[in-house]
Formats: sequence, C-alpha cells, structure tokens
Amino acid sequence: MYVLLGVNIMPYTVLEDYVMISMNALVAHHTTLKKGTFLSTGVNFGASIVAHENAYVGIGATIMTGLHNLGADCLVGAGAVVIKDVPEKAIMAGVPAKVIRIKD
Ligand SMILES: CC(C)(COP(=O)(O)OP(=O)(O)OC[C@H]1O[C@@H](n2cnc3c(N)ncnc32)[C@H](O)[C@@H]1OP(=O)(O)O)[C@@H](O)C(=O)NCCC(=O)NCCS
Repeated sequence: MYVLLGVNIMPYTVLEDYVMISMNALVAHHTTLKKGTFLSTGVNFGASIVAHENAYVGIGATIMTGLHNLGADCLVGAGAVVIKDVPEKAIMAGVPAKVIRIKD
C-alpha cells in the first residue's frame, strides 16, 4: 500500500493490500478500498462507499457520498463526478458521470 503526501483519510476507513492513493486525495469516513484500488491525485472520495478490487479513479474525480459501490476493475475518468454506482469493469466519465464503455 502507498499513500502519498497531502492525503487525508477520515476515521473508520479500511485500506486493503496494494491500495495506492496519490497526492492530495481525500477519503471520507466508513469507506473501504479493496485490494488494488488506485486513487489519483486530488480525488474526492465520499463516505460509506466500497471500491471493489482494482477500481481505478482518475485525476480530480469526485465520488459522491450517497452511492455504495465502485465495481471491481472499473475506471472513473479524470474530473468525473460520479453520482451513482459504477458497474464492474465499466469506464465512466463526465459530469455527471455516465458509462462510456465496458472493458473487454
Ligand atoms: C475516461 C478515459 C479512460 C477514456 O479514455 P478512452 O477510452 O481512450 O476514451 P476516448 O479518449 O476515446 O474518449 C471517448 C469519449 O469519452 C470522452 N471522454 C474521455 N475522457 C473523458 C473525461 N475524463 N471526462 C469527460 N469525457 C471524457 C471523450 O471526449 C469521448 O467523447 P466523444 O465520443 O463524444 O468524442 C480517459 O479519458 C481518462 O479520463 N483516463 C483517466 C486518466 C487519469 O486520470 N490518469 C491518472 C494518472 S495518475
């Protein structure tokens, strides 16, 4: 696991093995980042959300409190504002984020 400079993590957060969190990301309380989750620089990750294995969140994205899951192997695009659950293997981008395709 690595957590870079300027990251803020609120209480009751679970970080599993091989999680990587880049600079200045914010992770709110009661969140679980499962194995291999990657949060890019400046991500704002809301409360009480589970990021499943190998979820990848691009630079500056916001994952809004109120949704529940980022599916395994999903990818959230840079700058996205995610307001609902991200399906497994989905690539979501935009404001609000929409599925642009599903990984093969
Ligand atoms: C979302 C992403 C994976 C899409 O990449 P891609 O599959 O190669 O998609 P394309 O570049 O072919 O774009 C497909 C469409 O999505 C749009 N799009 C791509 N990325 C977008 C983004 N971040 N936000 C909004 N729209 C985006 C494109 O404008 C294009 O729209 P169009 O079909 O209307 O022209 C990529 O753009 C991205 O944001 N990657 C994250 C990069 C990052 O943050 N890296 C962190 C390094 S530390």
